[in-house]
Amino acid sequence: MRKKIVAGNWKMNNDLAQTETLITELKAQNGAADVEVMIAPSFTNLWQAFNALKGSSIEVIAQNMHFAESGAYTGEVSAAMLKSVGIKTVILGHSERRAYFNESDAILAKKVDAALANELQIIFCFGEELADRKSGNQEAIVANQIRNALFHLNAAAFKNIVLAYEPVWAIGTGETATAEQAQDMHAFIRKTIANTYGAEVADSISILYGGSCKPSNAKEIFAKPDVDGGLIGGAALNASDFFAIVNAF
Ligand code: PGA
Repeated sequence: MRKKIVAGNWKMNNDLAQTETLITELKAQNGAADVEVMIAPSFTNLWQAFNALKGSSIEVIAQNMHFAESGAYTGEVSAAMLKSVGIKTVILGHSERRAYFNESDAILAKKVDAALANELQIIFCFGEELADRKSGNQEAIVANQIRNALFHLNAAAFKNIVLAYEPVWAIGTGETATAEQAQDMHAFIRKTIANTYGAEVADSISILYGGSCKPSNAKEIFAKPDVDGGLIGGAALNASDFFAIVNAF
């Protein structure tokens, strides 16, 4: 059975007090036992969040990390630093990192290696832009993003990856992929993995959908056979909306 995961990407939202408030609200919610729930606060609040959620079933994860172990990289945070504050999972390759911070496939491949070397699970994000979708190139774009950053891994390492398909045109725009568009792409991604790693590995990898996922559309999207959960932005900032999505399976 593949893991079902709903992860909240808080992005650059919530200071310390707001983080504490939202966590208190999240702890009051009840999620289905078979769904792994994760939240990704900002770096400055990871330690506080980790402690506030100790003993709860909500995992605190990070939004990004640098590929180097340590050294002269002003403003960056390493995998070892994340581990030292209790983090076991990191989001890599978010489209905002790619677009605003010039993260290329080559940089992401290095980050993937560094995260795995530090035994971190990865939620690896990718997805096409609107122009790619309009020209019908979305599958080629997505296959390249996955191949370039991940397919150097052996099968055992690849099993530590959770994939998050996030069409850029649907992120923060209110425009969601239809459940059919999500399913078509997720099935294509699973086939692409199977071609390289075999069906057993492909069947074991959780593939999340991200992009304006909300309580009103999560049920239909999560009902699709190749959708194993969601990476949630805006709706993750409200405890009851977030748990409505967690409970949408
Ligand atoms: P959104 O963001 O749910 O606000 O569209 C999703 C994401 O960026 O992970």
